[in-house]
Amino acid sequence: MKHFITTQEWDKEELDCLLRHASELKANPLQPLLEGKTIALLFFNPSLRTRSSFEIGAWQMGGHAVVLEPGQGTWAMAFGDGEIMDGGAEEHMSEAARVLSRYCDLIAVRAFPAFVDWSIDRQDHVIRAFAKHATVPVINMETITHPCQELAHIMGLQERFETSDLRGKKYVLTWTYHPKPLNTAVANSAAMIATKFGMDVTLLCPDERFLLDERYMSFAAENAEDSGGSFSVSHDIEASYSGADVIYAKSWGALPFFGSWEKEKPIRDANKHFIVDDAKMELTNGAVFSHCLPARRNVKATDSVMDSPNSMIIEEAENRLHIQKALMAALVGSPVTPQAK
Ligand code: CP
Repeated sequence: MKHFITTQEWDKEELDCLLRHASELKANPLQPLLEGKTIALLFFNPSLRTRSSFEIGAWQMGGHAVVLEPGQGTWAMAFGDGEIMDGGAEEHMSEAARVLSRYCDLIAVRAFPAFVDWSIDRQDHVIRAFAKHATVPVINMETITHPCQELAHIMGLQERFETSDLRGKKYVLTWTYHPKPLNTAVANSAAMIATKFGMDVTLLCPDERFLLDERYMSFAAENAEDSGGSFSVSHDIEASYSGADVIYAKSWGALPFFGSWEKEKPIRDANKHFIVDDAKMELTNGAVFSHCLPARRNVKATDSVMDSPNSMIIEEAENRLHIQKALMAALVGSPVTPQAK
């Protein structure tokens, strides 16, 4: 049984197959590929795009989605092996995963880090526990990576550049300011997928404290080696933007400050100039701009950049619907192989 927890666990050919099928579904949205099938969507955190695109996508394919919000209408859940459940949680995930597996054909989970201890959060223990106990495929709707976002992003770039071959594009993943420390999931994902598709990727961030976890830095380097792309780090805004084909913006919390964010705040506050603005975009090769959304306007990127013809933000969000439909169909239908669609 195949889960979709990170794209790193899927071959490039399998991802290409999903992307091709997503394009077909975009052209012809109503296909009965999930008839009689159900998916449970477990949200431990809020969502606009993920929730609506999964629910609508299941409906468009004749399936049914049930949304569960543990702790808000669904029992609060415990996760630890051997845990003495004398706190607030009434339900252990090991029962929840097995019960939902009796009702549903797929289980999808959104579970952000707790932002207290990265050594715990980096284990991705919530979704890994679901994958261990569920007897149906499990989909990651964003934990410490965001693989559905990755594929929607790549699909958008392929559409913008009018080619499935993104090799050699100069891709900048830039940290941007945000008043709060955010999840590294989208940045981890962007680094992995842009290198997997052979782009020349620069991770632009204020200093070494904003580097991603070693696991994702290593995956990006390995992917670049395999794909013929490259992966490098820069703290030089002007050099990074110069000649870029893609600017992907995201804010994230500096990992060394996990659990003591008050010490990180003055450092992030000193880097508000990482905002994506017209002056920076003018240094690029007419780059496509994108962001996973939600994005704080005039904090992460200016109105002018967000609304420019080069902005791909809405297309990327739309593509969540199409790629997730292809993913659901692949996981409950025939085996996911490069030949199967
Ligand atoms: N990009 C994304 O996952 O959006 P939501 O948080 O609204 O689902």
